[in-house]
Amino acid sequence: RKENTIVINKNEQNINDLLSTIWEDSQTYISKGQVADYIPELSKANKNLVGIAIIDNKGKLYTKGDTQNKFTIQSISKVIALMIAVKERGESYIFERMGYYGTNAPFNSFEEIQTQNKPLNPMMNAGAIVTTSLILGKKEEAYLKILKMIRFITKNESITINQAVYLSEKKTGNRNRGMFYLLKNYGLFEAEDEESLNNYFRQCSIEVNAEDLAKIGYFFAHDCTRFDGDKTYYNPEMSKLINSIMLTCGMYDYSGEYSRKVGFPSKSGVGGGIMGVVPGKYGIGTFNPSLDNHGNSVPGVYIMESLSKKLDLSIF
Ligand code: DON
Repeated sequence: RKENTIVINKNEQNINDLLSTIWEDSQTYISKGQVADYIPELSKANKNLVGIAIIDNKGKLYTKGDTQNKFTIQSISKVIALMIAVKERGESYIFERMGYYGTNAPFNSFEEIQTQNKPLNPMMNAGAIVTTSLILGKKEEAYLKILKMIRFITKNESITINQAVYLSEKKTGNRNRGMFYLLKNYGLFEAEDEESLNNYFRQCSIEVNAEDLAKIGYFFAHDCTRFDGDKTYYNPEMSKLINSIMLTCGMYDYSGEYSRKVGFPSKSGVGGGIMGVVPGKYGIGTFNPSLDNHGNSVPGVYIMESLSKKLDLSIF
């Protein structure tokens, strides 16, 4: 038994060493990207922060770097909203109003809506605006359901909205606003006013840290079981749906290359987070706000690729 303990401790040490090496190497990628500034408040982010958090299949958390620093979840919230909308309305109802496609267009593209009269890609802004608008409830209810689910999955009741980021996007998000009205024009959802668009802005402004993302990753890696074993939302079909969507669309127009290089479902956000799902194994969260032109964190993608190679995490 003593020997077993030593082996386990050695594995833990190996993961900690690996995280340290990858964390150090990732620093050279910071200068290769830029902090998002199209939402003015996001431009205040510190480009030099790098955090890595990983939770193994027993729920053990490993961290390196700036894993307590908060950032807005942005597009990573889209998977939580999709989960809630599908639970409430059923998969066919939601996917009659959007496609299952990965597309080669940037995350804020109008192209597909104009040619198809509906979004094709559920992870792009257009698809996500439809998703959130289909969650049941008036006023802030859809946003509150998303917040509640994120708090549950992370077991972190202190998670809340960054009001300044929300107001900044609400004030300047005219591209998304235009999209909202075009989608409404196609009859994809009922909306009396802009509250469901505001709920989309609110869900994007929920603040998390890298550890929280690793916990969300764990949830989808383990059939919607929480990292502490809580099975309140246990649903293997749901995690299959969400993971397949993330694999094909989670990194936008970089998803194909990412799938080849990293090989597990992931979702990025312009706040600098990436959430990774290694089915049956790890949940991974990375944070660094230096983004490439797809809107993915450059150090974050490097970290995911390195972890995948060193720990042999590709699902293929
Ligand atoms: O709607 C937007 O543009 C942002 N609130 C979210 C976009 C985003 O995170 C794209 N991800 N990499």
